[in-house]
Amino acid sequence: TQAPLIDPFARAITYLRVSVTDRCDFRCVYCMAENMTFLPKKELLTLEELDRMCSTFVGMGVEKLRITGGEPLVRRDIMTFFRSMSRHLDSGALKELTVTTNGSQLGRFARDLADAGVKRINVSLDTLDEEKFARVTRWGRLPQVLKGIDAALDAGLKIKINAVALKGFNEEELPRITEWCAEKGMDLTWIEVMPMGDLGNEDRVGQFWSLKDVRARYEEHYTVTDLAERTGGPARYVRLEETGQKIGFITPLSHNFCESCNRVRLTCTGELYMCLGQEDMADLRAPLRDWPNDDRPLQEAIRAAIGLKPKGHDFDYSRRRADGQVSRHMSHTGG
Ligand code: GTP
Ligand code: 5AD
Ligand code: SF4
Repeated sequence: TQAPLIDPFARAITYLRVSVTDRCDFRCVYCMAENMTFLPKKELLTLEELDRMCSTFVGMGVEKLRITGGEPLVRRDIMTFFRSMSRHLDSGALKELTVTTNGSQLGRFARDLADAGVKRINVSLDTLDEEKFARVTRWGRLPQVLKGIDAALDAGLKIKINAVALKGFNEEELPRITEWCAEKGMDLTWIEVMPMGDLGNEDRVGQFWSLKDVRARYEEHYTVTDLAERTGGPARYVRLEETGQKIGFITPLSHNFCESCNRVRLTCTGELYMCLGQEDMADLRAPLRDWPNDDRPLQEAIRAAIGLKPKGHDFDYSRRRADGQVSRHMSHTGG
């Protein structure tokens, strides 16, 4: 067995996020430009290559695998990949196999995901207003996503809703979204909008809604108790005593959580990004392809890359500017 992956700041890397496609059927305004150019399909790792890549990480101590995109469920034949990964759950090497999705394809795939051993999924949804939903996703249809969510609940999947907190957009919907999640037994996590990708349309500073304010909003209406429990991701959780519901806060801007970072990100072309908010990356496709029958060069490349993991991001809006902006789009590394 391999030594665990430890970065220069003594953080153990046990969580791999894998973006299986840069494509998406939506174009959320804070994530993608309207007219994105997508990678030619031949650039992508094949599903077999993705499998070998992920399995190598699992062999090096990764315990949690989150499949992202773009929208992961639009990649052709992706269920074959999930089914194949489930062998690592069966062996006990992997503790969690999960996915972050926009929900549009859940009507088709919820049951298959559950059958592949997925227990909990995160669904991105910023508003329950059909017209606003169409605006923020540029053309997404809310009813389709709501049907997908119901299909996932019927299949026994636990759901966490991820909502990007956007000033002047979903502020006044906080009670409605919260109640809807409580009714359906779903957790809810709010995310601060991060300066990623040149979108041409953005006003990050103007849109930024600090989760300190979101928390204060909850405190006006509920008894809010801090929870010590973590799910291995960046969210900190509270419980609303009146509903018993868990609410998460992902606060890269207002409260940096990099000191406890445990994750790296693989793109669909085999680049390993060491931090969401930095440009540092390593090409893992070359060692993967150049040594089809020997995993050691790939393992060495992974270890070398982890040795370059930076301390954290430099996102900052405090000077009324989006400082620390990263040029690649969120859809490239999957959030
Ligand atoms: P769980 O805790 O297992 O639910 O996972 P998670 O919260 O890590 O996963 P999810 O895909 O729901 O992440 C939500 C969002 O949090 C991501 O899309 C990112 O926007 C943000 N996020 C996740 N990890 C990091 C990180 O390391 N740094 C920063 N700045 N943001 C992150
Ligand atoms: N800032 C914060 N969150 C973002 N997401 C996409 N772009 C951004 C951004 N610029 C979120 C999506 C989804 C997750 C994968 O990342 O809403 O929940
Ligand atoms: Fe697609 Fe998710 Fe980006 Fe929206 S946030 S465009 S759903 S990848």
